[in-house]
Amino acid sequence: MSPNELKQRVAEAAFLQLEQLFQPNWVLGIGTGSTVNCFIDCLTQSSQTHLSTVSSSVQTTDRLKADNIKVVDINDVSEVMVYIDGADEVDPSFALIKGGGGALTREKIVASMSRNFVCIVDESKLVDRLGKFPVPVEVLPLAHHPVATKLGKLGGHPKLRSGMTDNGNCILDVSGLEIDEPDYWERTINDIPGVVTTGIFSLHRPQEIFVATVDGSVDHRVAPKSFRLSP
Ligand code: A5P
Repeated sequence: MSPNELKQRVAEAAFLQLEQLFQPNWVLGIGTGSTVNCFIDCLTQSSQTHLSTVSSSVQTTDRLKADNIKVVDINDVSEVMVYIDGADEVDPSFALIKGGGGALTREKIVASMSRNFVCIVDESKLVDRLGKFPVPVEVLPLAHHPVATKLGKLGGHPKLRSGMTDNGNCILDVSGLEIDEPDYWERTINDIPGVVTTGIFSLHRPQEIFVATVDGSVDHRVAPKSFRLSP
């Protein structure tokens, strides 16, 4: 199966499962990336286009609006019932690296507002330990140099990504970090002055993960009990 077929497969499997639960008053959080785009395709082709959504990026907002799906402002919503998003890496405890597409800050805000976070990936994203994929760190433009220096002292090798985020900031892609304690690393990087967000999603992990495997099946995994936020 091609990478794109795996993305479609996992998005369809998650959609079919969630569709049975949708309530008219639900607000759905929609992530960013090629896997989520397949989920948006499912939403568009379904009878669920009346649902309200909050979006994690300009790219996703544009796509939802083009498909006539209602997008509401994050500030007008008190709770997101389900947040659907992809990831760049997933470890066995469901800690993630996200932000390959540059949308990490809004993604983390929506994840933090969500009652249920459902992650959709193909099995190439599964790792024993986070950090092979460079950790994206969104940084205020005026501080990318001092932040990079501090990340270097922590053992990382930061590289300034070209372009700007939807929020007008820079991204440092940090390779070389061995993220054996994701909670610690998320907090430590977040504490560097000038950092807006780190792409380590450990404090707001998904409760459920759908994984497409190369044989064409989709594995539905529920977080270890200690990490679940809801019964
Ligand atoms: C966007 O900033 C990212 O967090 C994406 O969720 C992540 O990069 C996964 O993207 P794909 O679904 O395109 O692999």
